[in-house]
Amino acid sequence: MTVAPLRLTGPPAGYPSIADLVEQVSASTGDLGNALSLPPGVYASPHFYEFERSAVFANSWLYLCHVCALPNPGDYLSITVSGEPLVVTRDQAGDLHVLSSLCRHRSFPVVEAEERGNAGQLRCPYHFWSYALDGSLQTAPNMEPAHSLGDLRATICLPRFPVTVWNGFVFTHLGENPEPLEPTLARLDGEFAAHNTAEMKIGDSVVLRGQPWNWKNMLENALEAYHTSFIHRGYHDNAPARLVQFLGFDADTENGIMRYARFLNPDGGFLTEDGKAAFPVIEGLTAEQRGRTVYASVPPAMFVSMKPDSMMVFRITPEAHDRITLAVDWLYPEATLAQENFAALIARQREFFDIVNGQDSMANERMFAALGSRFAARGPYSPQEATLPQFNAWLLKKYRAGLAGSGA
Ligand SMILES: [Fe+2]
Repeated sequence: MTVAPLRLTGPPAGYPSIADLVEQVSASTGDLGNALSLPPGVYASPHFYEFERSAVFANSWLYLCHVCALPNPGDYLSITVSGEPLVVTRDQAGDLHVLSSLCRHRSFPVVEAEERGNAGQLRCPYHFWSYALDGSLQTAPNMEPAHSLGDLRATICLPRFPVTVWNGFVFTHLGENPEPLEPTLARLDGEFAAHNTAEMKIGDSVVLRGQPWNWKNMLENALEAYHTSFIHRGYHDNAPARLVQFLGFDADTENGIMRYARFLNPDGGFLTEDGKAAFPVIEGLTAEQRGRTVYASVPPAMFVSMKPDSMMVFRITPEAHDRITLAVDWLYPEATLAQENFAALIARQREFFDIVNGQDSMANERMFAALGSRFAARGPYSPQEATLPQFNAWLLKKYRAGLAGSGA
């Protein structure tokens, strides 16, 4: 048996190059009966991750937060995506901005990672250069006479990135001339609109930094239904994998991947003994929508589960090839937040999340740690993993465009 060693930090002779790994990814797409899981090097190699920083993260719409995370003028929230410290702001006129948070003086971040607050301006803690909430320079102490403040203000601004708000969710794009996001999410649009996600409010949040696995491990685990019968046995039984419905996906035109998980009961949920939704069911859902969870991803950074009464949103952002930040928001109709027993139900929900996410985390961590092995597997997929060749096709498109753009 010949086993190719992985290239970990560079391109020594005989190791798979970026181009070779990308070619290997093509065997992970297409017909479910023939597709193989991704080549281990796309997870284990820091070199490949550096390629993904440009091919994927600088060339995709990136989910950042829900609009309700910044309800008031002056609100800001910092999020680092794949080594790019960003800050989302709402200015005094109520407009949202996405800015690089690096001071234009010497790149000190003007806000800390995962910091949220409210301010009239963003001030760099190092030399007190300050910026308006739209990124324009306001003050730069002690720069005269070498530089007039007027000249500096006329020319200096934190880099600004496009903002798209889709069904209440804020996205940005770090690349050149991005295609509009909305038309590429048409398949998901009806479900988000039916759940009225634009008007939802955050009831609970958690940010988990330094989670020790690759960002693709996280998305794959979230997307596939196969593991839910086994690793989550006893916790996911009222939405069994055998009842999952998969949908089409065209990597050439779409950025949203979705599947349905039918509950055994109508108005289903995971928190109650009887398998019923714990919170009031969202008004206007069809009987079919009341009987299922919608699992959807806008890769690389968004994964959601929409239930008949609420939704959970994951923001998945890599810190490095072997670490991610996972930020989770639980969203509800506003009226649900006002109900008397909300705090108790939220506590129950967090308890359930800690168990089920703990099971997923164990799987992600142990699997990632093994993927550097010379004997790491490329196995066949179950029909209950039909979303994975779809995700792989999305990746392959990004990887090929990245290779073409780099001239490699
Ligand atoms: Fe899971």
